[in-house]
Amino acid sequence: MNVILKKCIKYDRFGPPTKAKLLGLYPYFNIISSEQGPVVTMADREVIMLGSNNYLGMTGNPEVKKKAAEALEKYGVGTTGSRLLNGTFEIHVELERRLAKFLGKEDCVIFSTGMQANLGALSSLISPEDEWVLSDELNHASIIDGIVLSKIKKEHKIIYKHNDMDDLRRKIRDVPSGKAMIITEGIFSMEGDICPLDEIVEIAEEYDAIIYLDDAHSVGVLGSNGRGTASHFNLTDKVDIIMGTFSKSFASTGGFVAGSKAVCNWLRHHARSFIFSASPPPANCATVLAVLDIIEKDDSYQKNLLNIANRMRKGLIEAGFEIGNSTTPIIPIIIGKEMLTFKFYKKLFNNTPKGVFTNPIRAPAVPEGRELLRTSYMATMNNEIIDEALDIITRIGRKMKII
Ligand SMILES: Cc1ncc(COP(=O)(O)O)c(C=O)c1O
Repeated sequence: MNVILKKCIKYDRFGPPTKAKLLGLYPYFNIISSEQGPVVTMADREVIMLGSNNYLGMTGNPEVKKKAAEALEKYGVGTTGSRLLNGTFEIHVELERRLAKFLGKEDCVIFSTGMQANLGALSSLISPEDEWVLSDELNHASIIDGIVLSKIKKEHKIIYKHNDMDDLRRKIRDVPSGKAMIITEGIFSMEGDICPLDEIVEIAEEYDAIIYLDDAHSVGVLGSNGRGTASHFNLTDKVDIIMGTFSKSFASTGGFVAGSKAVCNWLRHHARSFIFSASPPPANCATVLAVLDIIEKDDSYQKNLLNIANRMRKGLIEAGFEIGNSTTPIIPIIIGKEMLTFKFYKKLFNNTPKGVFTNPIRAPAVPEGRELLRTSYMATMNNEIIDEALDIITRIGRKMKII
């Protein structure tokens, strides 16, 4: 038999997913049969959703749905082509203009997913020979893969310890001035801590490095009316490139890279995931435009989100859970053991009458020994639902001797 097929068959029979299924602990591909609101229907049961990135709760917003439906009616369901050729619709151009303005940048390029945005931008911006990258060790897989695709020399790819500015300083010292890019997430996706952007800016200025900020989890959440981490630190002008996604606060699917006109022009003509992939469907773009219309005028969603997350964080700390350095609507419950993490996840999910859905995270998404349940919150949640979830988590956590 062909070795490739043999490998798949072996994995199918004996791989970790099969073992986890046999133990009744497999946590993935749960089917949702409702909208992704604070409470969802899963396996015909009500489950409190603490595993969504629908931070502003916009997936079910009537105004947003109406505008998406209007775009669907006007432009049809798909674009059938790349932006470069037959896939540029007026709504793409309008969205790029609106996002650039919202983020305080000259221009913006939209991609079909955030993953494609990082792959396309990093692989095309970084040249393999005479350039360097310094990347936080907890940066997302799409950043890691984007760097790999740039074919940068191994010695020029420098990973610094998570949010450790002493380590970044130590490592950038040996890099020639004016030749490096520092890459960081704004809010880190697994533990909900914020990068020290003010210090990163200082270091970047000293070494004439540019800053690439993945703000996937921060847009809509941090900064003035949700303008993200750069706005939160009042440093928008000092951050060269802001990347983001439509799949979280913007309640859609797609991604973007905002920066100077020159950088965006470069991306439009070099980023392979932009050039060789169909543009996002117009209804996806209309969704983002509709969310922008709301949040530019009204910061109550952002405020509710932060209040809800603060209430939960306080409750989890008081109950005795270890939640790392989260100060945002992503709150990890750190367990530190893989099997215990999966068991806790399962007990929460199976709780009756209402389950609690969380995301169990294992290595390599977090370092080994740092396994956790990732919980995240929505602006459309209320205190009652948060208190109910907290009661369930605390009761089961105590029973399992996690606290
Ligand atoms: C930090 C970060 N960057 C990029 C992405 C990719 O975004 P998308 O879901 O739009 O592909 C994600 C998604 O989880 C993310 O967490």
